[in-house]
Amino acid sequence: MKHPTFQSFGVTVAFFALCQTALAQQSVTLQPRMGAKLNGLTTSQIDRFETGKVLYSLPIPIEEGLGPIINKSNCGSCHANPLGGWGAISVTRFGIENKGVFELYPGETQSLAQALSNSSFCAEIIPADATIVRTRLTNSSMAFGLVEAIPDDQIAANEDPLDINGDGVSGRVHWVTPLEAAPGSPLRAGRFGWKAQIATVLSFSSDASRNEMGFTNRLLPEENAPNGDSARLAICDDVADPEDVVDSNGFGFIDRVTDFQRYLAPPPQTPKSGMNGELLFAQVGCAKCHVSQFTTSSASTLEDSIRSKTIRPYCDFLLHDMGLLADGISDGNAGEAEMRTPTLWGVRRRDPMLHDGSAAGGSFTARVTAAIAAHGPFGEGAGSAAAFAALSSVEKTKLVKFLDSLGRTEFDFDGDNIVDILDFFALRTCISQGKTNPNDDCAIADIDQNGVVNSIDVDLFVQAFNGEILDCNNNGFADLRDIALGVSQDANNDGVPDDCGSCPADPSGDRLVNGVDLAIILSGWAGPGQSDLDHSGVTDGIDLAIVLSGWGVCP
Ligand code: HEC
Ligand code: HEC
Repeated sequence: MKHPTFQSFGVTVAFFALCQTALAQQSVTLQPRMGAKLNGLTTSQIDRFETGKVLYSLPIPIEEGLGPIINKSNCGSCHANPLGGWGAISVTRFGIENKGVFELYPGETQSLAQALSNSSFCAEIIPADATIVRTRLTNSSMAFGLVEAIPDDQIAANEDPLDINGDGVSGRVHWVTPLEAAPGSPLRAGRFGWKAQIATVLSFSSDASRNEMGFTNRLLPEENAPNGDSARLAICDDVADPEDVVDSNGFGFIDRVTDFQRYLAPPPQTPKSGMNGELLFAQVGCAKCHVSQFTTSSASTLEDSIRSKTIRPYCDFLLHDMGLLADGISDGNAGEAEMRTPTLWGVRRRDPMLHDGSAAGGSFTARVTAAIAAHGPFGEGAGSAAAFAALSSVEKTKLVKFLDSLGRTEFDFDGDNIVDILDFFALRTCISQGKTNPNDDCAIADIDQNGVVNSIDVDLFVQAFNGEILDCNNNGFADLRDIALGVSQDANNDGVPDDCGSCPADPSGDRLVNGVDLAIILSGWAGPGQSDLDHSGVTDGIDLAIVLSGWGVCP
């Protein structure tokens, strides 16, 4: 940049304002953390998100309709990691195998078992001669509103039911009717559940309310009978159906929890793109099913935060024949051997993994390696499982490192889901390292992905930081920022400036911040040295800002 000329302080201030505008234009925002709401919701949408969130984890009282047979009393007790997301709790499904075909146990209306009941008389029991008894883990797509808004034809575009391209991966849409659809409405592409058995969030809310909690509602007004026995049900259920009643604003429970789930943000991906491991992920065929990207519908009926958004779920929402990995239970049109691809966004926080929870415990690497191995040897995942197994250990590490970016909070170097002082120390090392790329650990702090961790990222770090933000030298900037940019020293590495009486705005060192200091900045413009107050390597608007904001007597 050329040396700026100035006649008066007023001109300088105008110039400074210009620099600020330029900085603001480059601005990047932090990705919401897992379990947080979407960016850009209106006040009333935020209100609906928060109200829904409360009801989502509030146990339903028995006198208001919980039971008589249930798995849990509230959604959040299963969808707990984060709230609204995955969980470690499994439910049981049972039935009978008849020549390879799954059948409901005689007298039953569904394969789902309810483990608890309000009296032992009404308890559902899994009959001893049920030949198929399987568990299914609590899953989640997160960002349900965005997933719901993926147009059906985009999902169908990845179908290849006859495997015309001969790559061993087919995949097909599970076409279903939403519970709330008017009679005669077209079928919709199912996308929720392990069998893609449900297409809309409201349908799932209704289904889960009735089937997991015994809470009947306007879309499913009939109670589940224990082992299909309506006589027993009649004795145990004395709350009139439907049990879900609308509140003073006209919303039922199922609408409220739908709001919460629809406004959940997608899990963050850090770094956002460019890792070599993602190329390998595509090369070995993972991305054939774990499809990286979709764009949501542009329908004007959708909220601004949901309409026309590019999302990266790493999922095709299609059914695949998974061979031995599948659960042997049919569901609607989904066959015994078919499972819906799970989303991989957020996968780094999932333990256990797979529908039966069999990839559990140990390190993240151990879990995903087990999950990948389970894709073979039979079924559509076999080819990519074998291709992964054939990678060198260096390549495997890269691929797993990419998976570990899915769900990582920005700046969270140690991966514990909080941004704390340890992450700050890592950030500081990255600043001194200079250039970085998406494969370096430092990419975790290069939020704008411009190849260096610099003051822009440091400002975002201050926003992301989970601790208290202090400004002990009163220079208008967080102490952590001052330390990171070298404005303050921190020789003992405790994240607190060594000398809170220091006066970074005073390059002349006379304890007065005035025209002398301003002149030092302008004459050193663009270069390093005494005028480069934040030690960024160049004297720029930030240094100017430090002088202007410290104007007067040093503290
Ligand atoms: C007892 C545990 C449990 C409770 C309670 C529960 N769920 Fe679930 N949830 C599950 C399981 C297990 C699945 C996977 C279901 C399947 O596909 O078989 C699931 C799947 C879902 C899905 C689909 C996720 C996806 O993207 O595929 C949604 C949506 C959902 N539940 C919403 C709810 C809501 C809303 C409530 C409360 C009304 C609720 N759940 C209560 C266990 C539970
Ligand atoms: C043919 C489609 C297909 C291909 C190819 C494929 N997957 Fe999957 N993946 C699935 C399905 C379906 C499941 C769920 C299976 C189950 O639990 O029954 C799954 C589950 C997973 C899970 C566990 C996620 C969870 O939440 O439980 C991980 C991790 C995973 N896949 C990673 C990979 C990687 C890495 C590759 C490439 C080496 C790959 N997948 C290739 C379809 C596929």
